[in-house]
Amino acid sequence: MFDARKLRDDFPILRRQIHGKPLVYLDSTATSQKPQVVIDALTDYYSRSNANVHRGIHTLSEEATALYEGARAAVARFIGAPNPHTIIFTRNTTESINAVRHAWGNRHIKAGDEIVLTEMEHHSNLVPWQMLAKEKGAVLRFIPVTENGELALDELPKLLNEKTKLISLTHMSNVLGTINPVKAVIQEAHSRGIPVLVDGAQSVPHLPINVMDLNCDFLAFSAHKMLGPTGIGILYAKEALLEEMDPFLGGGDMIRDVWLDHSIWNDLPWKFEAGTPNIADAIAFGKAIEYLEKLGMPAIQQHEQTLTRYALSKLQAIDGLIIHGPKEAEKRGGVVSFEIPGLHPHDLGQLLDEQGIAIRAGHHCCKPLLRKMSLIATARASFYIYNIEEEVDALVDALRKAKEVFSVVSRR
Ligand SMILES: Cc1ncc(COP(=O)(O)O)c(C=O)c1O
Repeated sequence: MFDARKLRDDFPILRRQIHGKPLVYLDSTATSQKPQVVIDALTDYYSRSNANVHRGIHTLSEEATALYEGARAAVARFIGAPNPHTIIFTRNTTESINAVRHAWGNRHIKAGDEIVLTEMEHHSNLVPWQMLAKEKGAVLRFIPVTENGELALDELPKLLNEKTKLISLTHMSNVLGTINPVKAVIQEAHSRGIPVLVDGAQSVPHLPINVMDLNCDFLAFSAHKMLGPTGIGILYAKEALLEEMDPFLGGGDMIRDVWLDHSIWNDLPWKFEAGTPNIADAIAFGKAIEYLEKLGMPAIQQHEQTLTRYALSKLQAIDGLIIHGPKEAEKRGGVVSFEIPGLHPHDLGQLLDEQGIAIRAGHHCCKPLLRKMSLIATARASFYIYNIEEEVDALVDALRKAKEVFSVVSRR
């Protein structure tokens, strides 16, 4: 049974006080907190099994290899991938997308080709494509975002033509919380033979995802946003695509044979994992996945939806506060961006921090989207498995106090 109150005990950081107040952590969209099992997996690995993988025939190396490859199998199981060999360990979502840019894009994108993105992309799913487009003379096109913070999907068919070579879009907006209908986009794209990359940085941690059901061609996500350590990320791709892609990094481990003048690439997935990988963090990520699996992703999604509905209703009751993103709670994940006109989000963030409440204030690495919304920054509260209604109440109380403080200051 999912019990947010009970599972909070598994997260040592939630016992911290900030400025003498209990920590209220509402910034999981940036990075999640870690349960003790994940923290222990790191120290266990370094205290008991540390050795390089795939190289030695001694016991420790075999143990490390089994743990590392076991984590890959856990990731494959978690997203319903047909085969662990379709799971590539990277550093994060950003590196996964850049890997596709190089390993797939170099071969497939030519002058005049078009890549379709959306106006709500994180810089991680925009800048790599800008770089590729500049290098190759390709063109970027964008699915617009509506006033309600949704994708204007009726525009999609008009954006697609015989020059379109890729669609790359976020599954869930880290600013607006919008859950995009990626399955419909993929169906439309595939009917025209166009592959789709899904940026799952915000969806894989929060929603049940099955890559076979979605039928996406590429999926990128980060461990640190789903209870795992920083420095480890995933690129999933369909096996046929991975087979025909060239490696984007050369070096040890990614080769089967080497001569002075040429080399033959290793099998999947090692072809894409040059050099000593991030063994410890991959193993700890495997533990994070087991933890999420025990809770069940449908239960996690339901918990976050309930909390988001509660937060939206409480925040809407604050006089003058503006909430960005879809009006309908069912179209959102657990991300709420808001502003209090006249109160800069950074000042708000600082006033909340004094109350022990961690939110994010800024452009959230989505500058073009904020520019479209005529904003420079927003305040953003985001929720995960360990957040509870009392924390939303604490946020709302602190916002009311911040408004009072600010009106007192501005009257002086
Ligand atoms: C939608 C989205 N895509 C990509 C990223 C980049 O993730 P990372 O910094 O782990 O590479 C983020 C991070 O916040 C995100 O929210």
